[in-house]
Amino acid sequence: MTTPIDPTTTPAWTELSAERDALVPDLRGWFRDDADRARRFSFELADLHVDLSKNLVDDEILASLVRLAEQTGVADRFAAMLRGEHINTTEDRAVLHTALRRPAGASPALHVDGQDVDADVQSVLDAMTAFADRVRSGEWTGITGKKVQTVVNIGIGGSDLGPAMISAALEPYATAGISARFVSNIDPFDLAHKTADLDPETTLFVVASKTFTTLETLTNARLARDWLWAGLEASGAIDGGDEARTDAVAHHFVAVSTALEKVAAFGIDTANAFGFWDWVGGRYSVDSAIGLSLMIELGPDSFRELLAGFHAVDEHVASTPLASNVPVLMGLLNVWYTNFLGAQSHAVLPYAQQLSRFAAYLQQLTMESNGKSVRWDGSPVTTQTGEIFWGEPGTNGQHAFYQLIHQGTRLIPADFIAFANPAYPLKDDGRDVHGLFLANFLAQTKALAFGKTAEEVEAEGTTGALVAARTFPGNRPTTSIFAAALTPRVLGELIALYEHITFTQGVIWGINSFDQWGVELGKQLALQIAPAIEGDAEAAAAQDASTRALLDYYRTHRA
Ligand code: F6P
Repeated sequence: MTTPIDPTTTPAWTELSAERDALVPDLRGWFRDDADRARRFSFELADLHVDLSKNLVDDEILASLVRLAEQTGVADRFAAMLRGEHINTTEDRAVLHTALRRPAGASPALHVDGQDVDADVQSVLDAMTAFADRVRSGEWTGITGKKVQTVVNIGIGGSDLGPAMISAALEPYATAGISARFVSNIDPFDLAHKTADLDPETTLFVVASKTFTTLETLTNARLARDWLWAGLEASGAIDGGDEARTDAVAHHFVAVSTALEKVAAFGIDTANAFGFWDWVGGRYSVDSAIGLSLMIELGPDSFRELLAGFHAVDEHVASTPLASNVPVLMGLLNVWYTNFLGAQSHAVLPYAQQLSRFAAYLQQLTMESNGKSVRWDGSPVTTQTGEIFWGEPGTNGQHAFYQLIHQGTRLIPADFIAFANPAYPLKDDGRDVHGLFLANFLAQTKALAFGKTAEEVEAEGTTGALVAARTFPGNRPTTSIFAAALTPRVLGELIALYEHITFTQGVIWGINSFDQWGVELGKQLALQIAPAIEGDAEAAAAQDASTRALLDYYRTHRA
């Protein structure tokens, strides 16, 4: 195992500390004195235009950050990942989500741990394509011969957030009359609510679980099966016999998992199951068979476009020097804000209503990956890790939390994401509404960067205490990511960009970004506490005083 390099012992860290101490942020002055700043700090990454110029860095700081990446071995670690080395040390696994989007016939072929990775990836993609085509054409039907109208993906975490986010983002591409829904929470409201208006005869469930052991997903899958049987029996479509029920499951349930034997044990025919591999982490799995619901809803062509977008960014990461490697630069900026300027959180603000779930998706990607206190060799981390990601689409956020970003006491770096063309080109009294929307995106990044001085406020006639209240300090850092339109390819590029930003930060901090032991304890305790909820006095007595009191409250208030 390679020992992680302690970033705080590198010469670059020392340089950055000195640069931080000398830093007087002055975006107004920097832009005024440097006509080339916007051009020099902007990059093209496949179809994305990425403007880093409104960040609190100058050329020297950026150069020191790049040296930090060099001195912590970021390029080597990327290469090790792409080669299939077992960089997921705690689970002794390769990390090969990038292999999921290699095009057919990619050269040189990728063989890892005795597996012909390319051949296996293409074979699952072909099986998914054939199945999606059958469902979309109506060749695959429910048990009564009706075409599928709704696909319900049952999964949680990485088996839900990616497909759910992309389904909402690419809704205009769902042109086959099939829509997707996503059930994740074990709160019974979720399944009940999302099936309430569905017809069992036209509903297909995709049970998506890497491990096929996840409590929420298996519980919801059983509830869905009961819902299906009850609905079909009530309408007389099937009798209540075992054979009819098995047949109903065969027509209305498929699965996606790395554990196909567990799929069979659940009662789903493995002929209708789509596999992937342990080298795909849950939060990196949307481009594996976990994307089956998307392929059905959006079509195989759109799904492959999405993969092509991911791959374009993978190619950039693998072949671009660190100084112009966009995901690396963005990861380095996050390190700068987290470790040198004391930022604790990071806002992601898409100017696209379709990206309403993007921040939630990024929360799992970034926080499950880098929310760690130990390094990949088991030693403690030497600096702060893992920013808190959050956000909402603009302009909604402008009327909610932007106040704090503009005038609050905290430093919150923000990524703005926008698209030149709208999904729906509506006009308001002849005026392009999307143009107005984009004016807000530009206005916000400008206001955050350049603020409004007391003199400017006074020049507008404001006096007294109101002047301070109406002053904007500026120097609030933003990155702008702009693309022509929110297409499948562009969305793939965006997701891959954030995957590699996350990895860059993980390498600098010495973290294994691909395990998630921190979610285990809660899962174990829930299983221990469940009997107490169900009335087992011994299990209740074994709890701590606070948990016992909460159990008492539950017992006295449960109707
Ligand atoms: O929350 C922990 C986790 O393991 C995630 O990493 C994963 O995406 C999710 O649970 C769901 O796991 P599975 O796909 O195995 O059901």
